[in-house]
Amino acid sequence: MTAVSEVSHKRATFTDCRGVPISYKDSKAIDGLERAIEMSLSFRGDAIAEIDAVLAEHPEFIMGWLFKAGWLTQSMETRIYSEMVAALDEAGKRLKSANDREIGHYEAVKAWVNGDFYGAVQKWEAVLVKYPMDLLAMELVHYTDVLLGDVAGQRDVVARASTLWEESIPGYEFVLGFYAFGLEENRDFSHAEQLARQALAIRPDHPYAVHAVAHVMEMRGRQMGGVRFMQERAGEWGTSNFANHLWWHTALYHLDIEQYDKVYEIFDAHLDSRQKDGNKYEELDASALLWRINLVGEESGDRWKHLADKWEPAAQDTLYAFNDVHAMMTFVSDNRVEAQDKLLTANERYLENASDANVAMSREIGMPFCLAMRDFKNEKYGDCVDRLLPVRYLTHRLGGSFAQRDIIGWTLLEAALRARRFDLALALANERTALKPTSAQNWRAVARAFKGLGDTSNADRAIAKAQSLILA
Ligand SMILES: [Fe+2]
Repeated sequence: MTAVSEVSHKRATFTDCRGVPISYKDSKAIDGLERAIEMSLSFRGDAIAEIDAVLAEHPEFIMGWLFKAGWLTQSMETRIYSEMVAALDEAGKRLKSANDREIGHYEAVKAWVNGDFYGAVQKWEAVLVKYPMDLLAMELVHYTDVLLGDVAGQRDVVARASTLWEESIPGYEFVLGFYAFGLEENRDFSHAEQLARQALAIRPDHPYAVHAVAHVMEMRGRQMGGVRFMQERAGEWGTSNFANHLWWHTALYHLDIEQYDKVYEIFDAHLDSRQKDGNKYEELDASALLWRINLVGEESGDRWKHLADKWEPAAQDTLYAFNDVHAMMTFVSDNRVEAQDKLLTANERYLENASDANVAMSREIGMPFCLAMRDFKNEKYGDCVDRLLPVRYLTHRLGGSFAQRDIIGWTLLEAALRARRFDLALALANERTALKPTSAQNWRAVARAFKGLGDTSNADRAIAKAQSLILA
């Protein structure tokens, strides 16, 4: 494997190591940018600190500022907003000497800052059409498509350049990783796993390729295989900046086969972020895991309190609906009525007045799910069902992955069971069992629905199936 940052020494003209033109004519600055991009791609180190060091030496390096602004878009947190805008402003002061690729990156982040996330994707995509080797543009489009729930886009951003990339081009393993995840989200599981494992053969400590395999295992219900795969490689991905999310994936396998002690073991060792500073992405996973384990009737002690403490300052952000639903999850679970009201009121006001890309996400899915969670915790299970049933096939608009959004379908099913709407519950549980027949949880739900309908024979059969999966 050739390290991305080593290759640019060989160039004769001022391009990056993949031949993409750079207007700033200094090899050291360009190498520094490559190091920062590689950190972002490999989930290692601090890419922003790296580029800051380069920019301190080379303040005229416009692509450095554009990397910083572009990478900060992915945080989806208000606390970094001013830093992102400041980096974009610095780039804006240097547009006169910029090339068309750099102007494209500038326009993309500008669209983002104006709340037009979809416009930002289009600008980055336009750069990619002209410069298919622009790995940074590909990375930003792919991740933004994940944030926005554009499922086909996650795959096709790579497909559009598929005949141009080859293993000799630095960063090929990252392209494979993006494609593998995009294929997985589009349910092309075999191809996804093949490419992810190819990426891992090139770079064994590639967390995003591990992640693509983890998703394949999750969607196909290969729980024990998933646990083994993750454990065997934990020494490599466990030290990356993606470790929390990968531990979350590992916990999901255990949850599916009712190994709750293992779930809490992982939560307490790797997802409990009470000692860390506020990284929202980590707290998303922690909240979502606790909600799921509560759905199966397990208590979680004081764990919600710490998470709700972390989310409460962000209650009125209205920045990203995906964040808001996880904040609400903690508020309803820790019985923080005031924080719930704050979040809901802020969102109502925001929906009346704003027109940015998050409005649709929030209106169509974010708010219905927030209200449904409140209903669930207030034991108004019928209301919870009525809110979620009409939106269940629109949930991709919330962003994230199928595995993350499955929390909505699971909440709907549990609410249907508790509302004693057993015919609906059976239909929903059957859907889940058809998609993932190796989940003990899914068979438990089938059994409860049959029992509610008075069909003890089918209920007993479903319980036996669940038991066999736990013992397997
Ligand atoms: Fe994931």
